[in-house]
Amino acid sequence: MYSIIRQAHSGIAYLLLAALIVSVIYALASRKKTFTAGGRKIALTGLIFAHLQLLLGLILYFISPLGVSNFSGEAMKDRLSRLYVMEHPLTMIIAIILITIGYSRIKKQTTDRKKYNSMIIYYGIALILALAVIPWMVWP
Ligand code: HEM
Repeated sequence: MYSIIRQAHSGIAYLLLAALIVSVIYALASRKKTFTAGGRKIALTGLIFAHLQLLLGLILYFISPLGVSNFSGEAMKDRLSRLYVMEHPLTMIIAIILITIGYSRIKKQTTDRKKYNSMIIYYGIALILALAVIPWMVWP
């Protein structure tokens, strides 16, 4: 069970990062054009992977030996333990909140320019945050 969820979390990380990169590049390249249903679908893909990743991440946090069971003062002094116990989950949750707000703004904004800007800003910041707390020493 643990191994399957860990592998799924690792696999969806590729899909989510790819969806965020594609969204930002697409929005940057099209920002002077009309916002189409295609643009919304690209943004939706990122939202779906983000929510799936949140679900898997939360489960992992409770079943992984690197998650909540490792929470202690000692763990906070170790860089890798602190990353898994605190920095990775908290920052990723903030990134997923930004993606969610960004997608809702894409749907609600009244002008195409504002829709593209929401996609660039919210998805772009989420991408930077996610890249900052990926455990690069063990992944990919
Ligand atoms: C944008 C969302 C996220 C991305 C891109 C992401 C990415 C990753 C990656 C690439 C790994 C390393 C996997 C491996 O070693 O094979 C990992 C591990 C982990 N993630 Fe996430 N993660 C995200 C969200 C979360 C959230 C929200 C939580 C918890 C609330 C979480 C908890 C964990 C834990 C506990 C591990 C260690 C698993 C283990 O090796 O036992 N992740 N994550």
